[in-house]
Amino acid sequence: MYLANGLIDRLGEIILQSEAVPGISSGKSKSKAKSSARPTNPIEVVTDRNVAGLLAQRVIDSLANAGWSVNISVTPAGENIKTSATVAKLHNHWFELGYDRNTPVIALGGGTVGDVTGFAAATFLRGLPFWQAPTSIVGQVDAAIGGKVGINHTRGKNLIGCFYQPAGIVIDPSVLDTLPICERCSGLAEVVKYGVIADRTLFRACERHLESWISGDEAIPDSVIECCARIKLRIVAADETDHGLRRLLNFGHTLGHAFERWGNYRALRHGEAVALGMVGAGWMAMKRGQWSGRDFARLAAMCTLLRPRRLASFKAFDIARHLTVDKKRVRGRNIWILPRGIGRVDIRGDVTEKEIRGALTYIADWMHG
Ligand SMILES: NC(=O)c1ccc[n+]([C@@H]2O[C@H](COP(=O)([O-])OP(=O)(O)OC[C@H]3O[C@@H](n4cnc5c(N)ncnc54)[C@H](O)[C@@H]3O)[C@@H](O)[C@H]2O)c1
Ligand SMILES: [Zn+2]
Repeated sequence: MYLANGLIDRLGEIILQSEAVPGISSGKSKSKAKSSARPTNPIEVVTDRNVAGLLAQRVIDSLANAGWSVNISVTPAGENIKTSATVAKLHNHWFELGYDRNTPVIALGGGTVGDVTGFAAATFLRGLPFWQAPTSIVGQVDAAIGGKVGINHTRGKNLIGCFYQPAGIVIDPSVLDTLPICERCSGLAEVVKYGVIADRTLFRACERHLESWISGDEAIPDSVIECCARIKLRIVAADETDHGLRRLLNFGHTLGHAFERWGNYRALRHGEAVALGMVGAGWMAMKRGQWSGRDFARLAAMCTLLRPRRLASFKAFDIARHLTVDKKRVRGRNIWILPRGIGRVDIRGDVTEKEIRGALTYIADWMHG
């Protein structure tokens, strides 16, 4: 992982110097290799329309300066690109361009571009070298890290996919300045999540600055992005395939996913749903007596800034019935992440229907009361 302001303009040089990339001719010694390396393959950049308008030229220039011949594929923006049709389109294009197994592919964009591009790269000729250059908060602190790539299916989100680790992740926090407020909110819900599951200092920083990070009055510091990215790297390193520790990342997501399904993935952004889910899980932990009312109130105050502005009214049952199709269920049970302190959480499978009803009723009152 590479993380610093301005890296987007150094992408070409970073990839060229990486030893993970095949198809680069070089001298014998390591230092000589760096100075004399020249690409022998073209390089592919996949991005969406919004990001293309903002960053594509800078990336193309940086790659061209390092000697690459650059091809760029531009998709529409948004969740709708995560389909088998997009993957087929990319594959057809790559065959036409004669790509071989040494052709690097860069995903330049948010989590949607990263997920679909990574899946296309993983499955083309059984795998092309793949680089993540995330440009949204969600991408930089979450989606680009951990090797999960995939697309949606008519039966649900992210149901088709695989684990495919990128050759590198290049994070430039300065590109976040152009993110619209709603996307900043969505990403910041994940930042607050990292504070609760793993880092009290991060949690306190969120309490002090969340409002001005959302409005854009203050830029989100690189140290905050780096802290989250490192927490994710650490958790993924301990549990790459999601059977243990990685479940901690699901704090707020068990109810969050149910809210997203209830809203047909249109009524709420992912981060807004996670904000509701974090309040629900926090409420359960408090009612169990394992989390203080004061810490719960601190979390709820932040989630008030992150929750959806408008939401159709709902009954507990409307949301609870969507829990049964959670793909992370184990032996018919949902997995819940419940706080025990700030920076400390438990993985639980013993949450009762009564607790779920209670949490959802609390959320409904908190939203609409
Ligand atoms: N693979 C994983 O581990 C993982 C983890 C979390 C989320 N995800 C996936 O990520 C997706 C959500 O990611 P997202 O929130 O980044 O969505 P996104 O990729 O749709 O980006 C959100 C919006 O922001 C725009 N955008 C991106 N960067 C910008 C910039 N610098 N300036 C201005 N606009 C910019 C995009 O064009 C888009 O309109 C979901 O599909 C989710 O399933 C994957
Ligand atoms: Zn999430």
